[in-house]
Amino acid sequence: MKRIAVLTSGGDASGMNCAIRSVVRSAISRGIMVTGIKRGFRGLYENDFIQLTSRSVSGLINKGGTILRTIRFPEFKNENIQKQCLKNLNEAGIEALVVIGGDGSSRGAFSFHSKWNFPVCVIPASIDNDISGTDFTIGFDTAVNTALEAIDRIRDTATSHERIFVVEVMGREHGFLALEVAIAAGAEIVIIPERPLEIGRIIEILEKNKEIGKVSSLIVLAEGAGRAHEIARQINEKMKGAEARYSVLGYIQRGGVPTYQTRCLATMFGNEAVKGLLDGLNCFMVGINGNSLCRVPLKDVVSSDKKIQEEKLRLIEEMAI
Ligand code: ADP
Ligand code: F6P
Repeated sequence: MKRIAVLTSGGDASGMNCAIRSVVRSAISRGIMVTGIKRGFRGLYENDFIQLTSRSVSGLINKGGTILRTIRFPEFKNENIQKQCLKNLNEAGIEALVVIGGDGSSRGAFSFHSKWNFPVCVIPASIDNDISGTDFTIGFDTAVNTALEAIDRIRDTATSHERIFVVEVMGREHGFLALEVAIAAGAEIVIIPERPLEIGRIIEILEKNKEIGKVSSLIVLAEGAGRAHEIARQINEKMKGAEARYSVLGYIQRGGVPTYQTRCLATMFGNEAVKGLLDGLNCFMVGINGNSLCRVPLKDVVSSDKKIQEEKLRLIEEMAI
């Protein structure tokens, strides 16, 4: 193998730059050249390629975002678009494609390999942590810590004003991000798509909290389970004497300096991706299972849905007494 390409795709996540750096340096250490593809699958289609050297990735380890940029390009589902992408790869002498991205990007990589038999490797990177086959995705830990920092600040004012706060976090249609944030923030209530809560039940819990002497309550809401402003409005409307406010954390969860865990995961994943390709794998995702790196067939990744750990919901309830 003489040349591979790497791109970042879908929603960005802190740590993508670390992964790019690792792919480039792991490949170059093994005599393989690296082409960077700008702006995800769209850049692949538009032949937006750059040469990446060890110097190209200097100073990236502590930088959020992605120097290769990323974009959502639904047109990549089109066979003719993919055919042009394949032509561009072949003309550039690229023998394998490393895709750093989330759930959708994994599906894109899988569909490309399935159609054209082109070697692909996915490095899971998403703040949603919703990709099956790996305990963690790159960027998830940084997003959790960013949310926690914000919530610790919110807790100060919530306590001072004896208010109820609804904090909305990202996570698309899943509650993985909300669940971890809720545990670490000591939230009284977590609302996730996998376990929605009616307003009546929310108020029941809040009334109980008041009875046992809680001066404020924190509700962590996954964006896929509702809108924080709406829940706060209903609490104010239906709960006598309540003062509920809300915060939507939004895009701060996507950026920022990558944490230790994000940096190490990204560095290990990039290295494992190159090693897997050199071992002859051609349609896989690198991941982590407990403390061990793993190589997961992409067909298994895209054909299964990651499940939340129900016991974490019970843990939050127990800690909220
Ligand atoms: P993420 O990777 O963060 O989940 P998206 O869902 O936007 O972000 O997916 C990233 C890109 O992957 C899409 O913009 C599209 O180019 C490609 N993609 C997603 N799903 C598919 C699919 N089923 N077939 C082909 N390409 C896909
Ligand atoms: O998939 C990552 C993510 O941040 C989701 O949590 C969020 O719902 C979505 O991307 C936002 O998409 P966009 O960046 O296109 O607005």
